[in-house]
Amino acid sequence: MLVLGIETSCDETGVAVYDSDRGLLAHTLYSQVKLHAEYGGVVPELASRDHVRKILPLLTKVLADAKVTKQQLDGIAYTAGPGLLGALMVGASVATALAYGLNIPAIGVHHMEGHLLAPMLEDNPPAFPFVALLVSGGHTQLVSVTAMGEYELLGESIDDAAGEAFDKTAKLLDLDYPGGPRLAAMAESGDITRFDFPRPMTDRPGLDFSFSGLKTSTRNLIEKNSGDGPLPDEQTMLDICAGFQEAVVDTLVIKCLRALKQTSMSRLVIAGGVSANSRLRLKLEEALAREGAEVFYARHEFCTDNGAMIAYAGCQRLLGGEKNPLEISATPRWPLDQLANPQERP
Ligand code: KG4
Ligand code: ZN
Repeated sequence: MLVLGIETSCDETGVAVYDSDRGLLAHTLYSQVKLHAEYGGVVPELASRDHVRKILPLLTKVLADAKVTKQQLDGIAYTAGPGLLGALMVGASVATALAYGLNIPAIGVHHMEGHLLAPMLEDNPPAFPFVALLVSGGHTQLVSVTAMGEYELLGESIDDAAGEAFDKTAKLLDLDYPGGPRLAAMAESGDITRFDFPRPMTDRPGLDFSFSGLKTSTRNLIEKNSGDGPLPDEQTMLDICAGFQEAVVDTLVIKCLRALKQTSMSRLVIAGGVSANSRLRLKLEEALAREGAEVFYARHEFCTDNGAMIAYAGCQRLLGGEKNPLEISATPRWPLDQLANPQERP
């Protein structure tokens, strides 16, 4: 089955072609980072308008790269939520209209299911069941995954998502947008032992997270170490980045180990933008190896938003016979555990 995937939930226009027999044939991505940089964050209306400008040229390019024509497609998958409503509607409209014109099914995909299944595009995909740690700009969730569509929420952040904590802390340090990956890069050259950040909610049972307090710790450290200037010296900045990242990573590792123990599972999938973090990958690999467990993740470009994960997830759902009605709609708020297994439709 040949499926076109379209991702427009936030500030990246991603398009891909996935074939159930041959795998991923082509993918392309346009990032709006420069557009939003001067505002220090995503401006929803600008995001929608830029998706409108970019989506059709990207679509033409990806079909050419995949060496297929529109007429050869068997279905079209698009991100239906969660995300920014206007941005989602761009992908939903293009996908639904194109599917109608080609007389093929369209399927709305859950963005976090896309992230969660992205490691399936790699050479050594994880087998079910596994625990998934979804860590993006909007979500931090631990999910028990027994099959596609069978998701049980084990724990989540009660305030900031992990990626949001990276971004907000980066802003305090006056790093350019998008701050998360910049902070992570600076942390590589910092001293993790100089500043002692808390590991929130690790001293009590349960699998929920809280990251907003780390901002306060950072703010206090900045004030204490800035002297007469607005910010500390360069080495102190690097050390704050390293200490902050270490606290987020340690907290995530502790909760992942706890979730694996609680579910008696031995496979962990990490997905979403923060799963690109090298320190998180390294520390999880080390910790899980000690427990005889294994961690799986997607290549860097498929950790953050992309069309390939949507094409893959949509293809699995279309193969199960699912499709959307002709009406064009999106679901900005959509809990992951409302999904069903495509193989077990009534
Ligand atoms: O999954 P994603 O591309 O978009 C959402 O669905 O939110 O995730 C973006 C988030 C941002 O908060 C970004 O700062 C964070 O992922 N991120 C990182 C890294 N790369 C992206 N956080 C820490 N380390 C990274 N290397
Ligand atoms: Zn995402």
